[in-house]
Amino acid sequence: MDDLNALKTELMDSIATADSLAALEAARVAALGKKGRLTGLMKSLGGLDPEARRETGAALNTLKDAVAAALEARRAALAEAELQARLEAERVDVTLPVRPRRQGHIHPISQTIDEMVAIFAEMGFAVAEGPDIEDDWHNFEALNFPPGHPAREMQDTFYLPDRDDGAKMVLRTHTSPVQVRTMVSQPPPIRVVVPGRTYRSDYDMTHTPMFHQIEGLVIDETTHMGHLKGCLVEFARAFFNVDDLPLRFRPSFFPFTEPSAEVDIGCSRAGGQIKIGNYGDWLEILGCGMVHPNVLEACGIDSKRYQGFAFGMGIERPAMLKYGIPDLRTFFEADLRWLKHYGFVPLDVPNVAFGLTS
Ligand code: PHE
Repeated sequence: MDDLNALKTELMDSIATADSLAALEAARVAALGKKGRLTGLMKSLGGLDPEARRETGAALNTLKDAVAAALEARRAALAEAELQARLEAERVDVTLPVRPRRQGHIHPISQTIDEMVAIFAEMGFAVAEGPDIEDDWHNFEALNFPPGHPAREMQDTFYLPDRDDGAKMVLRTHTSPVQVRTMVSQPPPIRVVVPGRTYRSDYDMTHTPMFHQIEGLVIDETTHMGHLKGCLVEFARAFFNVDDLPLRFRPSFFPFTEPSAEVDIGCSRAGGQIKIGNYGDWLEILGCGMVHPNVLEACGIDSKRYQGFAFGMGIERPAMLKYGIPDLRTFFEADLRWLKHYGFVPLDVPNVAFGLTS
């Protein structure tokens, strides 16, 4: 019996001091394994006389149960400790800022579109879209372009093979066909902006064959040219972040607006550098006007009841001016070093309430 007590102390000790699941398994094998100490004693029971066998057998069974229970308790404790250690080691702090090294960048054109849309969204405009490949009717005819209009000429427009029904197909030369698509598909009141790609056969320092525009269209029963002016003044001041930025509306001509205007913003060209602000010089940024009654009628809208304004603006130039990007063509060279320099942090989503990118 004393021997068994000593063995119990020894085995319990080896279990209590096992400091890993592997060490505990070694202790288990040493006690209960095929060649374990208890197993050995169990085997030797056969050599005892019946009386001693019963007594020793009962004591060995009690010890075996105690050892098994101690093993299980220690195993559970070690497993829990190992889990805790792993949780601690693999903990992720989701409140840490994004690691800049691993970040992609938002292209300045995408960022500028998001900023412009954010400003117009604040004024109640929704976003509309249309296809890059257009038919002649949406791109020209419904917009009141006469058949011989210079913009239709081969040099400016990318023509595609005719559609099966004979329609002439083009890469849209402006975002204005989406005015038509919007008016045809929904009744007034309408208030949309249309950012998107546009195409003209032109390539030099200041022109790329693909570029971007944002179109605006408002149609209801009361909107007039004063609203157009207010809307664009508000937009330009918010976009360039210049509170007293002056705007100049110069009479102009577009087939789809009457009257039409081109809009200049104040700037300075001192030192060969363009700076936006109230400095006395002017820079053209967009075309606009009151939607021509012929366009309303072509879209099935009663021009005696409804009226409104439209504007169209390039996106590259304002982006270059705002972010100091000197060369238009670099926008489309897909140079990662350029993008890293001029690109934006993905989480920096433009929003008028929290401030635009500046
Ligand atoms: N579509 C014109 C252009 O590309 C811009 C414009 C849009 C002018 C809407 C007036 C109204 O030059």
